[in-house]
Amino acid sequence: MIEKVKKLFKEKFNNNQPLIYFSPGRVNIIGEHIDYNGGRVLPMAISLGIYGAVSFNNSPFVKVYSDSFHETLEFNHNSFEKDNSFLKYIKGIIYILRKHQYIKEISGFDLLLFSTLPPSSGLSSSAALELLIIKILNDRYQLHLDDLMMIKLAQETERDYVGVNCGIMDQFAIGMGKKDYAIYLDTNEDEFGKYLYKYIHFKITDATFVIINTNKPRNLIDSKYNKRRWECEKGLEIFKTVINKNTLCDYTLEELENNKCIFDDIIYHRLKHVISENERVKQALIAMETGNIEKLGSLLNQSHQSLKEDYDVTGLHLDTIWKELITCPMVLGARMTGAGFGGCLIALFKGKNRLEINEILNNINTKYLQITGINLDYYYAKSSDKTMRLEEDDYE
Ligand code: GLA
Repeated sequence: MIEKVKKLFKEKFNNNQPLIYFSPGRVNIIGEHIDYNGGRVLPMAISLGIYGAVSFNNSPFVKVYSDSFHETLEFNHNSFEKDNSFLKYIKGIIYILRKHQYIKEISGFDLLLFSTLPPSSGLSSSAALELLIIKILNDRYQLHLDDLMMIKLAQETERDYVGVNCGIMDQFAIGMGKKDYAIYLDTNEDEFGKYLYKYIHFKITDATFVIINTNKPRNLIDSKYNKRRWECEKGLEIFKTVINKNTLCDYTLEELENNKCIFDDIIYHRLKHVISENERVKQALIAMETGNIEKLGSLLNQSHQSLKEDYDVTGLHLDTIWKELITCPMVLGARMTGAGFGGCLIALFKGKNRLEINEILNNINTKYLQITGINLDYYYAKSSDKTMRLEEDDYE
């Protein structure tokens, strides 16, 4: 892969000496739409991601070739005008670093992006790109930003520049990822701006995680993501008038049921998802630590059900695949992963027999194609380390 990226860089920029970086995507095992409600989440950085080859120069331009879009775009590094292309993530990081005065002027650079991560699929290609850029600039300008600082600045970019009012999960999973581990993260920031988290080693030896892509693209800027956040904020405001707690995930289902009448129907259902999902994550942690794959599978199914019925972020494409999966004896459980509205699912299969799993997924695809008119894709989920510069030793 590295050789391929270098060769492409030479072709596009006539330069043999780029530095090579890799930024992983992420899959969330469980804990959806609760990272902005003070909940626990269980994501994992994955080996699908974005490779970046970069070389700085003294021009005033940042020139970027994207292999996914087959085009070169450029901008003056002093221009922060918003656009709809992938450049917004790069401009956004430079903008935020300047806003906090980590950098003043930067020199131009040539950048080649080569992604193995399907875009707009809910595997966090945007957070992967943001962290890739901040890591490159951190190294180049010796900014001494630690991992958490880079994570937070990437999140700020997504919120304040790109316009998606996201939680911390994606940037955290990508900026702290560790091969062979998932991350159990408490999304409440403490008074020093830190988070409690721990790495969970996979004890799941006799099961296989597969990521299934609906290939229905979604764009969080236009989606109902920000609306869901608003509904949660409204719900918290109302809840606080009877019981004063900090975040929605601090409440219990019993408290919700006892006070059901103060919420309208939609808000009640949003809160039901949030509070129950947080409980499921705690149980999933125990299931993963003890290798109880049946329990984990059943929690995944419950999570999807809740996202479908109470949070209303699934839709035809995700639900069609999910319904097929859960009737299959080899599937321990499945759920949508990421923000929803299209994108991907994660499924836990019994055993390790990839031939059998492939056959099941190909059969599901036949039905999926009939119903939706598009084909699904699938990938075997492999964990990955965080965003990093690849040295000669790391070359695969
Ligand atoms: C997106 C956001 C995350 C999180 C998920 C839903 O991926 O970026 O912060 O809210 O949706 O769990």
